[in-house]
Amino acid sequence: MTQPVAVEFIAADLDALEGVEGRIAVFVGPDGQLDMQARRVNRLSKGAIARVVEDKGWADRKIGEIVTLSYPAGTAKAIDIVVLEKKAGVHASRKAGASLAKLRGSETLLLCAARMKHPEELALGVALRTYAFIDHKTGDQGEPPAGVTVMVTDPEAGAAAYAPNAALAEGVFFTRDLVSEPANVLTTSEFATRLEALTDLGVTVEVLEEEQLEELGMRAMLAVGQGSVTPTKLVVMHWNGGKEGDAPLALVGKGVVFDTGGISLKPASGMEDMTMDMGGAGVVSGVMKTLALRKAKANVVGVVGLVENMPSGNATRPGDIVRTMKGDTVEIINTDAEGRLVLCDALWYTQERFNPAGVIDLATLTGAIIIGLGHEHAGVFSNNDTFCQSFLKAANLENEGAWRMPLAPAYDKQIASPIADMKNVGGRPAGSITAAQYLLRFVKEETPWVHLDIAGVASRAEHTLHPKGASGWGVLALDRLIRDNYES
Ligand code: BES
Ligand code: MN
Ligand code: ZN
Repeated sequence: MTQPVAVEFIAADLDALEGVEGRIAVFVGPDGQLDMQARRVNRLSKGAIARVVEDKGWADRKIGEIVTLSYPAGTAKAIDIVVLEKKAGVHASRKAGASLAKLRGSETLLLCAARMKHPEELALGVALRTYAFIDHKTGDQGEPPAGVTVMVTDPEAGAAAYAPNAALAEGVFFTRDLVSEPANVLTTSEFATRLEALTDLGVTVEVLEEEQLEELGMRAMLAVGQGSVTPTKLVVMHWNGGKEGDAPLALVGKGVVFDTGGISLKPASGMEDMTMDMGGAGVVSGVMKTLALRKAKANVVGVVGLVENMPSGNATRPGDIVRTMKGDTVEIINTDAEGRLVLCDALWYTQERFNPAGVIDLATLTGAIIIGLGHEHAGVFSNNDTFCQSFLKAANLENEGAWRMPLAPAYDKQIASPIADMKNVGGRPAGSITAAQYLLRFVKEETPWVHLDIAGVASRAEHTLHPKGASGWGVLALDRLIRDNYES
């Protein structure tokens, strides 16, 4: 398990700056004005900061840029001068924190943030960017990243402001670890075990086994897992922090621990990336963990369908017809379009059991969404403009890219089957939309629903707040949505 770096808030003490080893970050706006802390660090470094700031190039530097003075006079190993105004907002602050994290490697870092408006966001930026999945590395990995110290005027207020951010960092890291794990480690059973551990935080966790899923009639989900030796499971997590009787918000995740494509086998090249095909379930899990850690005053249920899509003598064949829990039949034309088969049963179960106030599903569902939106925006599909707007607003507030895509009955003909109620693929045109149209058939008229196709964003190249690999995209946005709309 990867634990976020410890963040400590201490009172700004100018004298203490003298003996600091490791790195010191000071923040200076484009006007070049040094605050008290920067002035003291400047003196300790024999005027080095002033020389940088008084240089005529200073005004042209971009917000967030960092000038590093290595081995300055004094005890510090480096001084990082960050171009950032006192009043810098949430995102500029997180971004600056992330840049500092990247620079420092594992060295200690002291942020002189007494005059800054958002020290807790600077710290979150450092914490989120300081992620490395090293569980499977042997040998000496060097020093783990040292803790981060933030100097502020009121350390108690600083720590209080950081508390929810610490919960977010833990949730995001939980998601990233799950997404990073290979499928021989993160089997469906191991996944369920890791979710059961959330019980310690006050989450109620139920694991439904194949027998129960069979009884419930979830033949679509079971069809996906039937070629694998790792058993199909549905895990239900309840966080009841809200008023008793308030209908919950439901989060539903695709948890394909590995997607070979099944009998419709994927090409060998790049198939290893399909260890991240449980990304939707990973985000749902991360959000549940964050909610529990910060004791959110909301009722939220997380439902994840855990399954492995493998070819075998017992695997589902192209052409097989299965009956979903809802009762509709599906002709499985392509066993690689398995995510929708998992989700349709999980969605139906969630609505039947919980009568939720709204449902948001997350899934690494289609390669087509990567063609459409790349790795910057998740695809957003919805049957309800108000609900959709509140999600888009939350995603925007957290700087997690999300872009609405259309749904329309005209696409339905692409998934019509001559011999069953529908087929599971709609051909190449509008591949992400036909997948969403398929899901829509399993959403009740009265249920506000948002579908997030996160195939492009769950794992990607290095990005502002994460190194290459698992991003944890969606944990911040969903937590924001819940904070702003479901908490009293
Ligand atoms: N898990 C994949 C989608 C995916 C692709 C996720 C790339 C992440 C990166 C999904 O199960 C899949 O195989 N989709 C098919 C659907 C097709 C057969 C209709 C696809 O996108 O090609
Ligand atoms: Mn697939
Ligand atoms: Zn898949």
